[in-house]
Amino acid sequence: MRISKGQDLGEYFPGSKIFPSGQSGQDLYGKITNYVPVITPLIKWAGGKRQLRTHLVSLLPARWDTYYEPFIGGGALLVELANLDRLSTAVIGDKNPELVNLYTVVRDMPDALSGELEQEKFQNDEGSFNRLRTEFNALAPGTRSKNHAVERAALLIYLNKHSYNGLWRVNRKGHYNVPFGRHKKLSLPSPASLQRFSRMLQGISIINADFSRVVKNAGQDDFIYFDPPYHPVSKTAAFTDYTTGGFTIRDQERLARLYGRLSDTGAKVMLSNSRVEEIEELYADFHIHTVEAKRFINCNGQKRTGMFEIIVTNYEKGE
Ligand SMILES: C[S@@+](CC[C@H](N)C(=O)[O-])C[C@H]1O[C@@H](n2cnc3c(N)ncnc32)[C@H](O)[C@@H]1O
Repeated sequence: MRISKGQDLGEYFPGSKIFPSGQSGQDLYGKITNYVPVITPLIKWAGGKRQLRTHLVSLLPARWDTYYEPFIGGGALLVELANLDRLSTAVIGDKNPELVNLYTVVRDMPDALSGELEQEKFQNDEGSFNRLRTEFNALAPGTRSKNHAVERAALLIYLNKHSYNGLWRVNRKGHYNVPFGRHKKLSLPSPASLQRFSRMLQGISIINADFSRVVKNAGQDDFIYFDPPYHPVSKTAAFTDYTTGGFTIRDQERLARLYGRLSDTGAKVMLSNSRVEEIEELYADFHIHTVEAKRFINCNGQKRTGMFEIIVTNYEKGE
């Protein structure tokens, strides 16, 4: 996304005026894109990569054709690529049908979604939260249905932003069951930020499927970023409840085999995960970079502790 000369910058820098059109735009443009993310993720997602994005960016390949991100979650890297103006053709996906519904609605119907979010019922108190959670579960118990797509998307944004730690967790019936988060104020995306996100998503394919299906057309010169659910550092640290099925070591092995196959086609492949022996062994043939991240979600779901994570690439830095 580009900021052009003459554009109103009030949204990016509250209080700022119009970008003076006669001014040497290049310098200001350079500063803006370097320091101000003009698109921000719509939701906060467990395992989200906002924190690691500088490391991820430093390990991007030099160039690629189509970008694939099959574990999209909150889409931190996708957003970062868009802000760096490095996003062209892309295919994204996730197994969570509600998340995919949200991105599809934002791409195709941003105005309808903004209108939906303007309703009085969206309030930052526990009673409203519980009522809206019940409403969401009545509409959306894990279906892939297109019915009520806009309502479900609006409710998901609201619940994500007002729940405890922005978690996504469902019970056996597939009902979302995260409690109220006691945030200070109501926080919903502005119509302008939904529009920006929507513009970013134009032309992007959004698929609700297992990761293997999302990358099935990927090959030579494409770039795939895999960000699967973390493999637990210890048995109690397991946080793999993104979908009702969980993500087991068998899935991690299946993913590692796919990583190897994609690598053989000449694709550039990057993957992040927790730094655990089992995972490092799976990627022993590739470049493993260790980075430190502060995480929200650990064994007791509350503390934010530093922990090491790995970023695996099948190419040398800068290649
Ligand atoms: C670590 S999160 C991704 C976080 C994301 N990179 C971000 O920045 O917010 C992992 C995602 O994988 C999804 N997922 C779990 N199992 C999957 C599968 N088998 N295929 C595709 N997606 C899956 C979850 O729904 C979740 O959104």
